[in-house]
Amino acid sequence: MLRDVISKRESELPPSSMSTFLKVASENKKIISLGPGEPDFLPPANVIACVKRNASKTTHYAPVEGLAELRRAVAGKLRKENRVRASAGNVIITNGSNESILIALMCTMDPGEEVLVPDPGFMDYRPVVELLNGYPAPYRISGEDNFELDPDLIRQSVNKGRTKVIVINTPSNPTGNVLKRKTLEEVADIAVDNNLLVIADEAYEKFVYGRAKHVSMASLNGVQDNVVTLQSFSKTYAMTGFRVGYSSGPEKIIGAMKKVHVYTSISAPTISQFAAIEALRTGKNYVERARKEYERRGAFLHKRLGEMGLICAVPEGAFYLFPSIRNTGIGSDKFSQLMLEKAKVAVLPGTEFGKYGEGYVRLSYATAYDRIVEAADRMERVVKKFN
Ligand SMILES: Cc1ncc(COP(=O)(O)O)c(C=O)c1O
Repeated sequence: MLRDVISKRESELPPSSMSTFLKVASENKKIISLGPGEPDFLPPANVIACVKRNASKTTHYAPVEGLAELRRAVAGKLRKENRVRASAGNVIITNGSNESILIALMCTMDPGEEVLVPDPGFMDYRPVVELLNGYPAPYRISGEDNFELDPDLIRQSVNKGRTKVIVINTPSNPTGNVLKRKTLEEVADIAVDNNLLVIADEAYEKFVYGRAKHVSMASLNGVQDNVVTLQSFSKTYAMTGFRVGYSSGPEKIIGAMKKVHVYTSISAPTISQFAAIEALRTGKNYVERARKEYERRGAFLHKRLGEMGLICAVPEGAFYLFPSIRNTGIGSDKFSQLMLEKAKVAVLPGTEFGKYGEGYVRLSYATAYDRIVEAADRMERVVKKFN
């Protein structure tokens, strides 16, 4: 019997209750799941048709950096829709943007260095930094400020000589905040002044509501050399299972990522890259229809949570709400457990997204409208008992 076979690195990873919640939710058909961050729509019909047409032509590895046609199309999209200077040469196609996070950090952060990560923030950032033997330094995102990042906190958290990277995420998972241009400009100044890299995770770029506007950090003047932008086909085109995303940024960094990519996965799946080329040809209507439907669901759920006394920032982007549950008098874990047991609704505890997520829960509205209506009614019946 092997002893001590599991690495210290793995053993020290924090446990996650998310998989338990999602498992219970998927096994019990009575539960309405507001848990997963996954679109409930189908990908565009032209994408599915393209996959069927090309199945037998795509059984080989793709080039490590991605198919040239896809990289050209992505660069064109970045220039046109994000106002980011890009060419096929400074784009790499990855297995979803998750792999982009991993290899961008692998190529820029040395063991012992620090990475500033949002808290609450997407649950991947912290473990990935730790897996690479770096130090995640959480910067607090406060519900009192509508979950807008506070640049002063970033400024204070920069540890000269140790901090290497700032991770930002807009639109945000889990808070639904969309960073304002002015905030991005201030973070850009901090990055340039301190010679830091910004990893801008824009996986939800297309889902913004009301007056909110998505601005890509790399489109701002004077900061382009300090930014790696991560985007994805997963959310925009409901293509999570295809595992295709991409990074763009300074050639030196993207070049290093290409080198590492051989060892992490060789290339993103060839069939998925064909699908991605086709996705970029899809008419604007597909994404706009999804965006409008998310907006409708988010507005409804926000209103219903307000009626339950669960205070919540107005949804600006992504497909999440992050209400405060403080006035129920119980913690995030307990609240989520009670919702699962008594209301048969799966929500995720805010603590899954960092220690400052205590007092909050995350609800995903990537679920059909009528299911959300029913979930809200069920939650209300249980929440009423706390008041
Ligand atoms: C903020 C954020 N970034 C990146 C990802 C990774 O998505 P994918 O690897 O499917 O592109 C997710 C997935 O939920 C996410 O929420």
